[in-house]
Amino acid sequence: MTTIETVLHETRVFPPPEEFTKQANISGMQAYQALCAEAEKDYLKFWANRATEQILWHKPFTQILDDQTPPFYRWFGDGELNVSYNCLDRHLATQADKVAIIFEADDGTVIRSTYRDLHQNVCRFANALKSLKIKKGDRIIIYLPMGIEAVVAMQACARIGAIHSVVFGGFSSKSLHERIVDAGAVAVITADEQIRGGKYHSLKETVDEALHTEDTASVKCVVVYQRTGTAVPFDTSRDVWWHEIIEAASTDCEPEWVNAEHPLFTLYTSGSTGKPKGVQHSSAGYLLGTKLSMEWIFDYKPDDIFWCTADVGWITGHSYVCYGPLAMGATQVIFEGIPTYPHAGRFWEIIQKHRVTTFYTAPTAIRSLIKLGSDLPTQYDLSSLRLLGSVGEPINPEAWIWFYQKVGQARCPVVDTWWQTETGCHMIAPVPGAIALKPGSCTFPLPGIFAAIVDEAGHDVEKGKGGFLVIKKPFPSQIRTLWGDPERFKKTYFPEDIGHGLYYLAGDSAYRDMDDYFWIMGRIDDVLNVSGHRLGTMEIESALVAHPLVAEAAVVGKPHEVKGEAVIAFVVLKGRYPQAGETADIVHTLREWVAKEIGPIAKPEEIRFGENLPKTRSGKIMRRLLRALAKGEEITQDTSTLENPAILEQLKKPAQSF
Ligand code: WT7
Repeated sequence: MTTIETVLHETRVFPPPEEFTKQANISGMQAYQALCAEAEKDYLKFWANRATEQILWHKPFTQILDDQTPPFYRWFGDGELNVSYNCLDRHLATQADKVAIIFEADDGTVIRSTYRDLHQNVCRFANALKSLKIKKGDRIIIYLPMGIEAVVAMQACARIGAIHSVVFGGFSSKSLHERIVDAGAVAVITADEQIRGGKYHSLKETVDEALHTEDTASVKCVVVYQRTGTAVPFDTSRDVWWHEIIEAASTDCEPEWVNAEHPLFTLYTSGSTGKPKGVQHSSAGYLLGTKLSMEWIFDYKPDDIFWCTADVGWITGHSYVCYGPLAMGATQVIFEGIPTYPHAGRFWEIIQKHRVTTFYTAPTAIRSLIKLGSDLPTQYDLSSLRLLGSVGEPINPEAWIWFYQKVGQARCPVVDTWWQTETGCHMIAPVPGAIALKPGSCTFPLPGIFAAIVDEAGHDVEKGKGGFLVIKKPFPSQIRTLWGDPERFKKTYFPEDIGHGLYYLAGDSAYRDMDDYFWIMGRIDDVLNVSGHRLGTMEIESALVAHPLVAEAAVVGKPHEVKGEAVIAFVVLKGRYPQAGETADIVHTLREWVAKEIGPIAKPEEIRFGENLPKTRSGKIMRRLLRALAKGEEITQDTSTLENPAILEQLKKPAQSF
């Protein structure tokens, strides 16, 4: 049986600071192990207890898990609740005047919204939606800028049982169109424009473009929020203004009590091939997962100022902006802009200004901020911080250490959280008051999550050997199906050959080290086979980034006559693009470096330089484009979600081949 070879060896260990452990929600290793043991002993009772403690039920459940027709699981299947009630109404008696959202606009304007305000605004907007004949089960596309209104729109849908599908404001009209059609949406909620980094981008015009063909006839109305007040095309037979429809709406809106399994939302995510997949989440199980992870992994405390930098267009913005923090009754920062505007210290300035305690962001943001000013964080007062988090891709140890030292001042644990759109909430992540951290490892599964690493036949692999990351038992927050495509759901996530259709297949490769820590090696389709050695691309990238010259690197495979696959590296140097005369030397240095860090087998066959890498607007490197470039193919693929298309030209030519 072939397994995936692991070649990274990180030896630094950071035990939880005593002070942190003392105050932590899960305090110390014993407390963590006790929870895990409770889940091992009686899995169903463990989840039933959590669901009873965490959720306010309108009608309590009596069934815990229905696993009669795997992989179509039902959790708490006869219970009834409302998610918006659990996020807003439940706080009114105890903390109506607590600030729920501190909104920091692109230009620095600050708006605070209390739980009372937010509840009123959600109720009014929910009533306005009802007046537009929107009802339980209808699909609503939300295409809004990052801001309070996006949260209001999502919560209002949840309140009336409508199923929202948020589309990130950076997506093109083509992508938006595709999602509207797939969802069979009855309405689109958008804004005139969005503002990011001082620039204004039209949203309403993009919606009009997305709706101009007949296959979008299901859409009966478009609600337009006035963000900038600029003149936009307006079709009075279809479009309504947000501010007009809420004018007469009441601030009382009885929540629609829904079944635990009622879909709260769908969110589109790209697969390795074909059209985007509409990941469908439940109401109760999803809410439970976001709440528990707030408590366990973010160690949430009532006086925290929580800041997750993700846009609500991504799952991170659903779980850790719209739902998790509100369900906990937290105060959170929502930021409209970008990290580099009007200056590269904006993130640090916001942390200082709002006294942020918990800061959750992505490795790609961390790396770009290192590039822009490695010492910048030290110019701000970041003493309010007590916990840092990372999500979205493996964080390379060098970036981890920088984050830990320069931002967290060697005081704050860094929680590297592994999860997916499909899992709804954190799956493998350190419980910060219990688990010693290793930079680059997401450490251990949350209590109740039975993660494992298996081979092609579904058998556990030994420690130190790579394989497929699976979750062996169903868990409440997991994806329920793909919207309109249950077969694809089954085939993609519960394949017959691995675990007889009973294991959730994450699509990532990973290994466990001698201490049982989990290390994510990258997506399965990013695994290279070089001369019979299977290597995770991320490990080579991590090695490259560890070199002092390198700011960012992406590695892909290219078919190779002798080796099967050859390693091609795309590299961004720190602060500059190499001069004509020096590329050969740098290429040589970096190849030798990788040989030394990992072994000659991982030496890149080719290194190409760019001022940047092709990224989606959410900051993910577009590997399929890099694979095409590496093979010398013309780019015929859709580049509409690309942030920086000009970069492709630079990356076309090899600096030097071997
Ligand atoms: C994929 C899921 C989860 C919210 C944002 C992304 C990668 C995510 C980590 C991490 C290593 C990670 C995985 C995963 N990923 N977090 N901490 N360490 N890899 O959601 O777009 O659904 O992507 O992102 O490859 O499968 P997504």
